Amino acid sequence: MTRIAFIGGGNIGEALISGLVSGEGSGDKPDVVVFDPSAKRLDFLREEYGITGADDAATAASEANFVVIAVKPHIVPSVLEDISSTLDNNDTETVVVSVAAGVSLATMESGLAAGVPAVRVMPNTPMLVGKGMSAVAGGRFTSEEQVESVKDLFATVGQSVAVAEKDIDAVTAVSGSGPAYIFMVAEAMTDAGVQLGLTRPVAQQLAVATIEGAATMMAQGDKNPVDLRANVTSPGGTTAAATRGLEENGLRTAFFRAMQACVDRSVELGRPAGEN
Ligand SMILES: NC(=O)c1ccc[n+]([C@@H]2O[C@H](COP(=O)([O-])OP(=O)(O)OC[C@H]3O[C@@H](n4cnc5c(N)ncnc54)[C@H](OP(=O)(O)O)[C@@H]3O)[C@@H](O)[C@H]2O)c1
Repeated sequence: MTRIAFIGGGNIGEALISGLVSGEGSGDKPDVVVFDPSAKRLDFLREEYGITGADDAATAASEANFVVIAVKPHIVPSVLEDISSTLDNNDTETVVVSVAAGVSLATMESGLAAGVPAVRVMPNTPMLVGKGMSAVAGGRFTSEEQVESVKDLFATVGQSVAVAEKDIDAVTAVSGSGPAYIFMVAEAMTDAGVQLGLTRPVAQQLAVATIEGAATMMAQGDKNPVDLRANVTSPGGTTAAATRGLEENGLRTAFFRAMQACVDRSVELGRPAGEN
């Protein structure tokens, strides 16, 4: 049975545990063990998902096939230190996976014994509702099969794709931070609806259901966003008037600039401490 250890059972850790124990993925349910410093949190995870709690990170990591590090980025180096010698003495080959923003594969590899495979993942928050988008990058000692296995783990809570590590900052700008852009669009549509005379609850319901419906059409159909928009835009009609307004107000430029700012910040945060 595959053994998966989680170091950190917060939002992202719990979302992934939930996907793994629900049996959504292919294959058998894994044996999941978690270490989190909060006893209350561990009790909750144990009761809710039937997983095993560990007293420390090294015990959790022992003989695990995958160790998923889901702690805040500044804690990752100390976690690596805690588990490194255990993994070095393992009989099992363990793939170490980190979801921490800005923590490079080089940092992970330098905190582990030589040759330990490391994988960096950029997930996003819709994984909390099983609709995540995760990008997976393997390090120097990671085989393609190991990257595929990590992709499969994250596919239990949405979609996953393999990328090169150099693309992780761009991934952060598209899918990592992307949910916030869509929340802002919902907010802006709601405010505009209120300005046009709708009550706020009705305007918000209309905006959110519209985004959900449009997203489902893009995800499930065989048409791309450009064709879908053309299909709902009659010559000289209402939608053409609205989309012209968005173009005149620089919608595309706003996205280009916002996402470049996101990449710049991601690069800055990924620099070694003291260089920011
Ligand atoms: N949330 C997102 O949208 C998102 C998206 C992409 C990537 N990420 C990355 O995912 C990682 C986790 O984020 P999150 O939102 O899940 O954070 P979180 O909810 O704060 O979860 C982190 C958990 O780790 C625990 N922890 C602290 N020190 C620990 C240690 N030494 N060993 C084991 N566990 C420890 C924390 O306990 P205490 O609370 O008691 O300290 C907490 O339960 C972050 O690195 C973040 O960059 C998050």
